[in-house]
Amino acid sequence: MTDDLSGYGVTMSAGDIVDLLRIGVRPEARRSGVASALLDELLVGTDDASRMLLEVSVTNASALGFYVARQFSVIDVRPHYYRDGSEALVMCRWLPGAARTQSATAHD
Ligand SMILES: CC(C)(COP(=O)(O)OP(=O)(O)OC[C@H]1O[C@@H](n2cnc3c(N)ncnc32)[C@H](O)[C@@H]1OP(=O)(O)O)[C@@H](O)C(=O)NCCC(=O)NCCS
Repeated sequence: MTDDLSGYGVTMSAGDIVDLLRIGVRPEARRSGVASALLDELLVGTDDASRMLLEVSVTNASALGFYVARQFSVIDVRPHYYRDGSEALVMCRWLPGAARTQSATAHD
């Protein structure tokens, strides 16, 4: 068996929301576009969804840098979310379904 996995990502969809549950890349493979490629792959087929959501620790600078670079923005804060007492940021990336929902509402 070969051991050539560079990274992985996991999402869960519920209604028009896609939750990004996990994304991780081997340390030696980071900053070479692996997570960006994984995210692009996870976004395939989500055109009907309105947003992708995730939680990330305020202490996780690399993940925060990644999410901001990939069009996520902070929409909420969850204090004392992690076992070490640190807070989580809830981040959101709007997806194409959000525009369709808005324009449908505007014409009602
Ligand atoms: C966060 C993580 C998944 C990013 O993976 P990656 O493959 O290195 O990301 P990419 O190479 O696709 O980076 C794309 C862009 O994100 C930003 N970025 C990525 N890592 C960054 C870092 N450490 N600091 C600041 N910005 C960063 C950059 O803008 C980067 O573009 P650039 O390299 O051209 O400057 C990776 O660091 C990781 O596995 N961390 C540990 C697991 C983890 O914390 N997962 C998230 C849990 S919420």
